[in-house]
Parts: sequence; C-alpha cells; structure tokens
Amino acid sequence: MAKAKTIYVCDKCGYESPKWFGKCPVCGEWNSAKEFSLKDHSETKSIRANEAGMEAPHPRFFDINSATKLLEEEERIKTGINSIDELLSGGLVKGQVILLGGEPGVGKSTIALQICDSIARNSNNDKRIYYISGEESVGQVGLRAKRLGINNEKLLISSETQIEDILNEIDPNKAQLIVVDSIQTLCSVDIDSPVGGIVQIKAVVEKVRIFSKKYGIPSILIAHVTKEGTIAGPKLVEHVVDTVIYFEGERTTDYRILRVQKNRYGPSGEITVFQMTSNGLQGLSEDTFLTYSNTPGNIFTSIYEGTRPFNVQIQALVSRVKTTSGRRISHGVDVRKVIIISAVLSKHLNLPLDFHDIYMNVSGGVNITDPGCELSIAGAILSSFLDAYIGNVFMAGEIGLDGSIRPAVNIQKRVENAKKLPIDLIVIPKASIKNTNVKSTQNIKIETVDNIRQLFNLILDLKKGD
Ligand code: TYD
Ligand code: MG
Repeated sequence: MAKAKTIYVCDKCGYESPKWFGKCPVCGEWNSAKEFSLKDHSETKSIRANEAGMEAPHPRFFDINSATKLLEEEERIKTGINSIDELLSGGLVKGQVILLGGEPGVGKSTIALQICDSIARNSNNDKRIYYISGEESVGQVGLRAKRLGINNEKLLISSETQIEDILNEIDPNKAQLIVVDSIQTLCSVDIDSPVGGIVQIKAVVEKVRIFSKKYGIPSILIAHVTKEGTIAGPKLVEHVVDTVIYFEGERTTDYRILRVQKNRYGPSGEITVFQMTSNGLQGLSEDTFLTYSNTPGNIFTSIYEGTRPFNVQIQALVSRVKTTSGRRISHGVDVRKVIIISAVLSKHLNLPLDFHDIYMNVSGGVNITDPGCELSIAGAILSSFLDAYIGNVFMAGEIGLDGSIRPAVNIQKRVENAKKLPIDLIVIPKASIKNTNVKSTQNIKIETVDNIRQLFNLILDLKKGD
C-alpha cells in the first residue's frame, strides 16, 4: 500500500514544509499554507518494473542488466509529425509525461490537437486518445478540429475539470495518449484551494503523472506561462515531469519555435521551427528566418544546445546619442550579455560605445543563451558601429572579458551547418582551428581571430574591400 505523506505548500510561491505555517517564511504571505499529500514513490518504481515485464528482485533496486533492459524497453511511439519526432528523439516513450508550456495564444492547443490527430491516423490499433480541455468547451475544440481538418473517432474530447472524475473514465487498456489542456484549469477533489493555484497544479500534475506511469500511457500537460513569469505554477512542476518543451516566438509573426528544456529520454536544447498557418502549425526548415540584406549589423551564427546546431541571425543597431549613457535594448539575447560585450569592446578597442544606444535582435524571436554566439554579437555591434556592410558572414566563438576570442563547443558541426547558408565568409577563433579540419572552400573563406582587435581590423578590411 502506498503511504501518504502530508506536507504543507505555500499557494503563492510553492514553498514546502513538513509543518503547518501561518505566514510563509519565503514570500511572507499569510494563511497560504495548504495541506498536500504525496504518494510514496515506491509504487511508481515497481510499476516501471512490471511494465517491462520483470520481477523486481528488490522493491527498490534493480540490477544493472534489468536497468539496461528498462532502457531498451523504451520503444518510441511516433507522433508522425517529423519535426516533433526529431525533437523527442524518435517519438513518445511509454508513460512519458511532457509539459508543454508557452504564452497564451502561441499555439499549444493547436499543436497538441495536431499531435493527437497524427498519432490516431498513424497507429494501426483501436486505442483512443483522450483530450481533456478545461480551457475550452467541447464545441470549441470541435471547431478547431474542423478548421484543422481533423475528423477521427479515436480522438475523444472532454471539458470536465475534475481530474479524478476524468481519470476514472479513461480505460487504461484503450488509451494511447492523454492531453490535459491546461493544468491551470483542472482541479483535484483532494485539494481545497483555488483552481490554477500552485497547490492545485501540483496535485493535478501528480495525479496524471501517477496514472501515466502506472499504465505506461504518455501524457502531454499544457501550461500557460507569461513572459513576466508571474505564473510560477508550471515552473514548479518541471522537476516532476520527464520532458519540458516551451513554445517561443514573437506574437507579431507567424513563426513559432519549440524548444526542449529538459528531457529524461533524450537530449535537451533541441529546437524546431513552425509557422502558424490557416491550417494549423506547419514544420519549417531552420533557415526560414534568415534574411540577406545589404545593411551593416547583420551576422549569422548558430546555437548549439541539443544534438545539432541551429542557424540564426543576429542584428545590431548602434546609434549615437548626446548623453553619456547609451541604452542597451535587446530581444532574444540577455541584455546583460549585450552590456558585457559592449563594455569589452569599449575598453579594449577604446570605442565610445557609452555614447551610443545599442539595440539587439535575433531573427524569428529565438532566445539565445549559447555563449558560442558571443563573437557574432560583437561582430554585429562592430559592423553597425563602423557602418560596415561586410557581406553574408557567419561567426561562432566566445568572448573573454580580456578581449580574447575563445573556442565555441562543436565548432566543426557549426561550420558544416553554416556552409549550407549562402555566405561568403566564416569567422572562428584561432584556437578552434587546431582541433578541427575546417577548410576554406571555393565559395566560403574561413578567417580566424584571436582577440577583438583582430575582429575589428577584419571588419574594417572587409569594409574597405567593398
Ligand atoms: P492556440 O492553439 O489556441 O494557442 P494556445 O493554446 O497556446 O493558447 O492558437 C492560438 C492562435 O492560433 C489563435 O489566435 C488562432 C490561431 N490559429 C491559426 O492561425 N490557425 C489555425 O489553424 C488554428 C487552429 C489557430
Ligand atoms: Mg489553448
């Protein structure tokens, strides 16, 4: 029998304590402690062993052969949408719990419905897919399905909001996938606190997770998140799910990026691009956002966070101001990174960047954290500052506070991927050339740089040669 352990969770910030508290010691909220029961985890672990058809020799430990077998058992259920299957390293795994987050209106319900439809069409069994929409009425989901041309009797829709009632209605032998849209709109009978609050979210996620693991049915949990991060709920359940995928993208364009933030069944950092069309989301190639304009300040680079590089374009606009403190405004690159790189350029090249505003942008609304993009950020700033159009150039490398240019990880793969672009020049750190066999080709020249002074001179030379 599973033992229930009671803890108290702050409904405002998620603070947990074994004891009741009147005032939350973390966020200071009064009367926010809610009782929360957690099941003993041994239940789920022995279920995993049963799932793989094994007797667990010890209730809590597996020998190494069994552990390997468990891994092999992870056959993939293909969604049939190529870019999603690639993102998930081949497809869904039995009992996998995926958190799909994103801002309202970004396309979470749309992609979820498309996945449901594709799985239903691709599977040659009569298993059902259960779509629980607490967000919208059955009619509204039906309308969206109609718009997407989805008509499949294996797909069942409900707009019930109590998770226990819903799970009771799902026949585990007949279920192939469960979608919960969204975790903020469902509630558990066990919990006496507001729907959409942290405690309810935790409870709902826990119920679905246990159900998924027990019967080996994958589930997709949709969660709203806002840019301001005011809704802390979804972030607080990331650690209990297997996979976390976020939708990124500017509201003003049709492009949407799905990025794997965490994956117990494959690499994280994988990215794929979609376009929102009148027929739903369509997969796109990675270079969709790239433009080839004859203006200074545009540099190509790649982000490498998953198993492959992804080409993006950095844009900088540097403009003179009369005051001494130029502003730094950035979309897609952390503004602190822009501040640091411009400080390095100011200091080591003796440039008056303090008297300039710097605006940074990344094509397609992609967010960049990969330090391998730093060289391109510096390149874009210098190109705009010098008003130098330098052609279609790709750069990859990191920048040190001392003005040195350092190798970026996986430079070889980045360069190979960059060669697919119609570029004239690739600039990489000098130190990178030793460990790779990157070579100039007839159309694409490779230049190396050791420090930002050399980068500066290179950009000046390219400008002159124009
Ligand atoms: P939706 O999936 O409802 O977003 P979320 O679940 O993340 O809140 O999609 C939001 C937008 O997409 C909505 O404004 C309508 C638009 N849309 C299309 O452009 N084409 C379509 O085929 C569909 C279904 C939606
Ligand atoms: Mg929705």
